[in-house]
Amino acid sequence: MTFENPLVETFQNTKTPESCIMVIFGATGDLTARKLIPALYNLERDGQLPAHFVCIGFARRPKTTEQFREEMLNAVNQFSRSKPVDPQLWRTFSERLHYHQGNFDEDNSYETLKQTMQKFDNEVGTQGNRLYYLSVQPSDFITIVDHLSAHELIYPIQTKNKWSRVIIEKPFGRDTDTAVQLQQDLTKHLDESQIFRIDHYLGKETVQNLLVFRFTNPIFETIWNNQHIDNVQITVAEEIGIGTRGRFWEEAGMVRDIVQNHVMQLLTLVAMEPPTTLSADDIRDEKVKVLESIKPIPLAKLYDFAIRGQYGPGYINGVPVIGYRQENNVNPNSNIETYAAFQLSIDNWRWAGVPFFIRAGKRLPLRSTEIAITFKSAPGNLFKESSSVIDPNVLVIRIQPDEGISIKFNCKVPVLSTVIQPVKMDFRYGSYFGSSPPEAYERLICDCMGGDSTLFARDDEVHHSWKLFTPVLEVWGNTTPTDFSDYPCGIWGPKAADHMIEKTGRKWRII
Ligand SMILES: NC(=O)c1ccc[n+]([C@@H]2O[C@H](COP(=O)([O-])OP(=O)(O)OC[C@H]3O[C@@H](n4cnc5c(N)ncnc54)[C@H](OP(=O)(O)O)[C@@H]3O)[C@@H](O)[C@H]2O)c1
Repeated sequence: MTFENPLVETFQNTKTPESCIMVIFGATGDLTARKLIPALYNLERDGQLPAHFVCIGFARRPKTTEQFREEMLNAVNQFSRSKPVDPQLWRTFSERLHYHQGNFDEDNSYETLKQTMQKFDNEVGTQGNRLYYLSVQPSDFITIVDHLSAHELIYPIQTKNKWSRVIIEKPFGRDTDTAVQLQQDLTKHLDESQIFRIDHYLGKETVQNLLVFRFTNPIFETIWNNQHIDNVQITVAEEIGIGTRGRFWEEAGMVRDIVQNHVMQLLTLVAMEPPTTLSADDIRDEKVKVLESIKPIPLAKLYDFAIRGQYGPGYINGVPVIGYRQENNVNPNSNIETYAAFQLSIDNWRWAGVPFFIRAGKRLPLRSTEIAITFKSAPGNLFKESSSVIDPNVLVIRIQPDEGISIKFNCKVPVLSTVIQPVKMDFRYGSYFGSSPPEAYERLICDCMGGDSTLFARDDEVHHSWKLFTPVLEVWGNTTPTDFSDYPCGIWGPKAADHMIEKTGRKWRII
């Protein structure tokens, strides 16, 4: 249980971004209702929105601004981290919300958008600054950017006193070639500094804390290497299945949806060297060096390094649930992976010899995203007379839920004989700071308004990550798995993933 901590107000030391208009393309979509508008509402509540700010929702369905506001009120009531909605605050906030009915491929929709924005610049004082959020299917990214450019709604980077930026939702391509093509198409109209590739994991408080934890606590940083660490495990486990997103999953799969972007962002933050400064480019340079140092996954021995799986019917919390192939809009013979596990090696001085095991799966026993650093065991065994098994130290960084950090160490049980047992020291964000951290989208939207791209993926990060996984995806795409569906809902993935890690003399951490 957590309580509001009145002192938490003193933690707010951020500068309010410059006045601007934010246009959400895809304003009637799922992401807008579940994440974007609730994030803006909470920014308003925390006094983080610019004084002169307008949000225009752009989508195809005809509706009035009043109807849009009503729908967004329902969305905020349902999905906001702060509930119930404060009526007074909502009145102020909703006056900033407007709806623009249009079609992504119709010139007239952009001409009328331009006029509307100019009107707001004059009436509200939004100063010509533009943030375009592309909350749309990836096939629409380029159509929209082409039209924005054709209607001079994107400013050349040299433009003084006003800016235009574009937030691109994931996925950024579906393999190396498509990501390169997308990048080329975008950079016809946009400078890299105007492109903000969102990976919402980077906006999570616990992920940002990774840098603080590593680089302000020398007691950990001095042992953060292959002399002391035995292995690193990164887990992204979900209890839920694919829900209503069958069509999307049939195109994507676990590597494209979670591993290539979110998991690799976590891995780079764990493994990177200290940056020279905290500037966006210095941090991202270090992350790229990690990606460049990862050895290619050996395709000839794929089974030792890359495992895919797919959930079959089973039980979650004792309730029977269907398998992936029985889900709506899924091919009954689908070979899409709902689970993926990899063993990766980073070939540099700090990490050579330390395996990084990553796994991500749907319909696993519980929801958990965590990074577990297992240290090497103590040399020799001074306590061999004791029959106790002595565990290695494990440092666990819990990204979600129950955000926090724990350390497992061994302790003598208070009895006359020497019985040794692992115990845990646990730091929990919620109970310590007494408030729920801001949602990732709040931080990221705010950063983009402020022009700070530190928590957004740079082109070369995305590129190197695709380069690592594309060959595996190609092999998987060209071979039919004989054992699908190979794990029932409610267990920790396929047996093959256990075999992969056990061959190295290790085990997956029990969460
Ligand atoms: N939903 C999530 O949880 C989630 C999570 C992470 C990333 N993403 C990414 O976020 C993006 C948006 O996802 P979503 O789930 O919100 O998509 P969605 O529910 O399918 O929404 C798509 C939006 O695009 C609009 N649209 C489509 N074609 C249009 C056209 N020709 N002209 C004007 N508007 C058009 C739709 O408007 P009408 O319906 O009015 O036609 C709708 O507002 C995707 O790239 C997705 O991969 C989503």
